[in-house]
Amino acid sequence: MPLRLAGRVSTVAPFLAMEVLERAIVLEAEGAHVVHLEIGEPDLAPPPEAVEACARALAAGETRYTDSRGLLTLREAIAQDAACRTGARVDPGQVLVTSGTSAAMLLVFSLLVSPGDEVIVPTPHYPCYPNFVRVCGGVPVFVPARAEQSWRVDPAAVRAALTPRTRAIVLGSPANPTGAVQDRGTIEALADLGVPLVSDEIYGGLVYDGETSASALSLGRDDVFVLDGVSKRYAMTGFRLGWVVAPAEAARPLQVLQQNLFISANRFVQHAAVAALREGANTTETMRAAYASRRERLVAGLRQLGFGVTALPAGAFYVFADARAFDADSRRLAFDLLERAHVAVTPGIDFGEAGEGFLRFCYAASESDLALALERMRGALRAA
Ligand SMILES: Cc1ncc(COP(=O)(O)O)c(C=O)c1O
Repeated sequence: MPLRLAGRVSTVAPFLAMEVLERAIVLEAEGAHVVHLEIGEPDLAPPPEAVEACARALAAGETRYTDSRGLLTLREAIAQDAACRTGARVDPGQVLVTSGTSAAMLLVFSLLVSPGDEVIVPTPHYPCYPNFVRVCGGVPVFVPARAEQSWRVDPAAVRAALTPRTRAIVLGSPANPTGAVQDRGTIEALADLGVPLVSDEIYGGLVYDGETSASALSLGRDDVFVLDGVSKRYAMTGFRLGWVVAPAEAARPLQVLQQNLFISANRFVQHAAVAALREGANTTETMRAAYASRRERLVAGLRQLGFGVTALPAGAFYVFADARAFDADSRRLAFDLLERAHVAVTPGIDFGEAGEGFLRFCYAASESDLALALERMRGALRAA
């Protein structure tokens, strides 16, 4: 008997970055050497203190469930780190520890969105934002930003998209895929629009050229949700550890959702996160310095090849380059580069209609891989 799948499944589009990766794995199994610039994953190692803390915790038998909200020591470390970085006062009672920022996103949208409700998604956007909304029965409403305006989110355009059904605005800053960093005034204007702001700050601190990334926490409001985690800042993607700092009144309902959906985040990984937050600053700084110089080389190389990059991205670790000189169909171009040049990149359409015609290049890859990718693309694009 054929399986009858729930309607929500068909509302969720494939994550194209993963589709590119999965095709690349097939090519590699056939003997090809692929340069990977498609996945947003640091190539550098996590803080050794975090790895050691994790191993120590495992050896000491820290293998059971924790309080569904997370270990108190970790929630205190998160509150302290947030206070240090943003100047905000955060109560550990507002912190819920999750298995990755992704899980925090699911909990927050489950909390806010009923079927038919709308969530404003400035675009180009992280591919999964609208899909989390759809899984909750909601409707993403896209508000496009433009490369010529450094991908700045326009609060007036967001205001114009509000309806009585709007339940939240989701903002990523520093942003995937554009690297844009929204200034404090913009974040404040968005928070002032009368619906909760869900601020994804997973790339917080990964900024260049003296830029700072403002946190929605610094607004001191009681209607913002800040999502964060150890994946990017500490190169700990596989640890699967994130959190949400929520308004006090949301803490208990989030806790109840977590108890039911996930029970708790992984216990020994929570110890690793405490160590990363307390002792991982050097690792983050080393990564940041490496990304800053890779970013400049990659942008220069892409411009030389004929890609359009209006300005150096201010944060995160991506270049979102205009590829329309080669092909306006970003999906076709990305898969073509993979097949012919063995360079894996993400098609801009993965990040919404506003990203069509662009390709996303991740520069959390070694200098030699970046150079090789540019060389291979030079050959493939010339031959096309
Ligand atoms: C903007 C953004 N938010 C969230 C995530 C997911 O983070 P995590 O690994 O903590 O689930 C990613 C991963 O690429 C991301 O780019």
